[in-house]
Amino acid sequence: MSHITIATTAFDDQKPGTSGLRKQVTIFQQAHYLENFVQSIFDSVPELKGGTLVLGGDGRYYNDTAIQTILRMAAANGVSRVLVGQDGLLSTPAASAIIRKYQASGGIILSASHNPGGADGDFGIKFNGTNGGPAVESLTNTIHQNSLSITDYQITDSADIELSELNSHQIDGMTVEIISPVHDYAELMQQTFDFPAINALFEAGFRLRFDAMHAITGPYAKHILEDMLGAPTGTVINGTPLPDFGKGHPDPNLAHAKELVAEMFSDNAPDMGAASDGDGDRNMILGNNIFVTPSDSLAVLAANATLIPAYQDGLSGVARSMPTSCAVDRVAEKLAIDCFETPTGWKFFGNLMDADKITLCGEESFGTGSSHVREKDGLWAVLYWLNILAVKRTSIKTILHQHWQEFGRNYYTRHDYEAIDNAQATSLMQELENKLEKLNGQSWNSKTVLQADNFHYTDPVDHSVSTNQGIRILFDNGSRIIFRLSGTGTQGATLRVYIESYELSPDKLHLDTQAALQEYIQLANEIAEIKKYTGMEQPTVIT
Ligand code: G1P
Ligand code: ZN
Repeated sequence: MSHITIATTAFDDQKPGTSGLRKQVTIFQQAHYLENFVQSIFDSVPELKGGTLVLGGDGRYYNDTAIQTILRMAAANGVSRVLVGQDGLLSTPAASAIIRKYQASGGIILSASHNPGGADGDFGIKFNGTNGGPAVESLTNTIHQNSLSITDYQITDSADIELSELNSHQIDGMTVEIISPVHDYAELMQQTFDFPAINALFEAGFRLRFDAMHAITGPYAKHILEDMLGAPTGTVINGTPLPDFGKGHPDPNLAHAKELVAEMFSDNAPDMGAASDGDGDRNMILGNNIFVTPSDSLAVLAANATLIPAYQDGLSGVARSMPTSCAVDRVAEKLAIDCFETPTGWKFFGNLMDADKITLCGEESFGTGSSHVREKDGLWAVLYWLNILAVKRTSIKTILHQHWQEFGRNYYTRHDYEAIDNAQATSLMQELENKLEKLNGQSWNSKTVLQADNFHYTDPVDHSVSTNQGIRILFDNGSRIIFRLSGTGTQGATLRVYIESYELSPDKLHLDTQAALQEYIQLANEIAEIKKYTGMEQPTVIT
């Protein structure tokens, strides 16, 4: 077995987006494409030489091929030990937990999250640092720069490693340890939540339906919910991970988790419904005939933190991404803790957690998490809700209604316009930018724009500045309209329009969301001239 240096030429499209490098499988299958990016990671993170690397993915198509290539490249790049999930599997939050527990120098996670899989779907790769969190922007920029000037990469000519058995192997002086993808994560959940209380809830007949969407959380959910917590067999549906996610779109929202949503809005609905995405970091929470928006979920978790063993002493602070609704801000105000507003993407929360400025955080895009890891965590959110329910012994609907009564309700929706022409999308955003000055102070139906800007963020810990993070139109009554382009799509551009209003009066707490926001939805369409630029009458997805 020997090291080989392979000559290559750079690709000009390896700039990581909101969450790593995400492309269609066919792009990754081009000769040297994956290798170039992986070498750029090794070149950007010198600590990996002689260090420990965690490796795994969500099991989507191309996961197994990529894992073998990365193992060979890790050996040739001087990595001393690789912890790889059995069968090459690791959910994103479990990878984060394992990096932290074993003090690894970093991890490579293979996933395109909620994007469809299969040979004609998407693939992705991202690097997480030693704190277990996604690489910060300065590092992803370095990786990108290296990918633009790469001329060769290092690899061994060793054979594939058998990943189905829990044991160790050697590749050219590097140890490969195949570990249980579930064990360390399950242990961490047990340390965080009151498992006996949740077990008692199930014993009392509580009915949960968890939709793993044929993605990575199946084995985790079955082990934790059914084996450890005593939920009845069959609680977890679509629990076998498949390379093409059973041809589904593994995104836990009202549009894509159809089977679960239909059951939760039926006459015989279970007490709680939940779903997770391709790599296990997202979550959707439903009660019997009620949907909990991710923004509300974060607010409820924050308001009830002291019911959870791990958070019983209170929260150091909370954070939300800018487009996420302001529901959690009102809880933070009441708890007298800080609430940070960050750009979209999990990488901005890590610094705040490392500096102990926040304990909980979340995004409107079905992501919630805490400082137990440095990724959002789907099952963690489900267990958090279960723990609250185990203590309160009331319904999700009641918890939500009481929350709105106490804090007011932030009506919230996101309208996505997918696969639009790149040039048109850029023009739409540019035109909005040009209108900002005019929008400031403008009024419609007695609602006045307090502030219209392009959001930028200065990290309070390392003082790095991120600009161009979305156009915000903030009204004097707490309503907001936000426009940004997706950084995770792989076909054309996706325009996301986030619309929110705030309601405190008791007789207006139970309206239909789209109806309650109708005026602002229309305004958003007019201001951005969405139809003109996209040619679309309606959004492709409403969440
Ligand atoms: C989307 C979500 C964002 C999330 C990211 C990764 O990014 O909007 O909140 O962090 O996926 O899961 P976007 O496509 O909007 O850039
Ligand atoms: Zn994900």
